[in-house]
Amino acid sequence: MSLLSVRDISVHYGQLAALRGVSISMDEGETLFVTGPNGAGKSTLLKAIAGAVRPSSGSISLADKVISGQPPEQTARLGFSMVPEGRHVFGSLTIEENLRLGTGIRADKDRIEGDLETVYEVFPMLAERKDGQAGVLSGGQQQMLVIGRALMAGPKLIAIDEPSLGLAPKVIDQVYDTLLKLRDSRGLTLLIVEQSSTRAMLTGGRMVLLRGGKIVLEGDARELANDESLRRAYFGFGEH
Ligand SMILES: Nc1ncnc2c1ncn2[C@@H]1O[C@H](COP(=O)(O)OP(=O)(O)OP(=O)(O)O)[C@@H](O)[C@H]1O
Ligand SMILES: [Mg+2]
Repeated sequence: MSLLSVRDISVHYGQLAALRGVSISMDEGETLFVTGPNGAGKSTLLKAIAGAVRPSSGSISLADKVISGQPPEQTARLGFSMVPEGRHVFGSLTIEENLRLGTGIRADKDRIEGDLETVYEVFPMLAERKDGQAGVLSGGQQQMLVIGRALMAGPKLIAIDEPSLGLAPKVIDQVYDTLLKLRDSRGLTLLIVEQSSTRAMLTGGRMVLLRGGKIVLEGDARELANDESLRRAYFGFGEH
């Protein structure tokens, strides 16, 4: 049984078809990279799964329950947590207050303190500064905070929209190290929108390439990232 199943969805913004018949499926513990040029529909795909935009056709299931057309809280309750594009921290709140905001939808309140400890273990920097204001964190630290906040919802599947954007290579390494640790220790399923094929190559897993709202290539992340066909499909060379 797939954890996530996206079946033939299309999403329109007015006249514009941002996604056209996209299907993906993910098993528990799997890593899937979604790559593609600007405007390809990558963020729209995550928003559709999160319930922030409604597909005009097709359906989405999480853990065998249909979530398309359901409100985002319902999707979150079933174990989907999203880190959207940009790093939205609440600057005037403390780091710990930001983390606790992630727990609003949880039914298992008794596990919150344990998860907070785990987040502090994987991101010691957040623990050191837990009572400090989030607004003064650097870009990389904010990225860790928003990932930490998404983890505080206790997800099975976490989707992250461009975790590397604007970060120094060393910080990107740290963010990915953490994600992989969580995948390996807790069986967390990772859906990552990433423009850099280098990351997909280092991390492994599967990869889909979106272009013009469609999946134009899919396969093993390491193989595709190394392959000339990715570059061609990315930029649309060799088509009429
Ligand atoms: N709220 C919106 N209203 C109207 N059009 C939108 C909206 N959001 C996205 N679009 C359009 O839908 C298409 C897909 O956008 P989307 O943000 O999903 O692409 P993306 O692959 O995430 O791009 P990027 O790499 O720039 O983040 C684009 O043409 C975009 O202009
Ligand atoms: Mg985007």
